[in-house]
Amino acid sequence: MTAAQGGLQVGRTILNTGQIRHTVERLAATIARDYRGKPLLLLAVLKGALCFAVDLARALGGRADGPSEIVMDYICLQRYGTRGSAGGPVRLAKDCAFSVSGAHVLVLDGIVDSGLTLEFLQTLLRQRGPASLRSCALLDRPAGRQVEASLDYVGEAVGDGFVIGYGLDYKELYRNLPYLAELREG
Ligand code: IMP
Ligand code: MG
Repeated sequence: MTAAQGGLQVGRTILNTGQIRHTVERLAATIARDYRGKPLLLLAVLKGALCFAVDLARALGGRADGPSEIVMDYICLQRYGTRGSAGGPVRLAKDCAFSVSGAHVLVLDGIVDSGLTLEFLQTLLRQRGPASLRSCALLDRPAGRQVEASLDYVGEAVGDGFVIGYGLDYKELYRNLPYLAELREG
């Protein structure tokens, strides 16, 4: 066991690979319908949306009824402090490269908890004059909310347990788990 893991283990599965695929396909069907015939900028919030953004983009690409074109870009945000600490500020670690001005932007995040990260990003992007701005999270923890952040598309709601896998980390570990699980002590 590594020091970073410190006695913590992969706990119960929250979504297995088939359930993730199903959830992503369901989101893609709704998003394809809503952006039909429009150019879409998919903006992944790294690193948490790493797996989700790639799979959602592929699910959209496999459909004939969706956006007229899709551009993928990413932005890196970091929260200072640990989860649970009262509202650590958010830092822009790496900006996106594609111009947001005049674009139909769909932000993709792995999980929304307090909403602080999403609120920070939405404020930043709105200043750049997008044609439209919506947000999509694979997972939503509504009980964690500290600020209102508008979330237009949600894969699944989760409870209190800390989630790892499929892009989500605990101290940078477990992002490569192919499924979503709870972090467990012991
Ligand atoms: P928020 O700013 O509190 O909404 O938190 C959003 C960010 O915190 C996510 O993009 C994740 O990076 C991280 N986060 C929140 N909850 C979890 C979790 O259960 N597992 C892994 N990362 C999480
Ligand atoms: Mg993290």
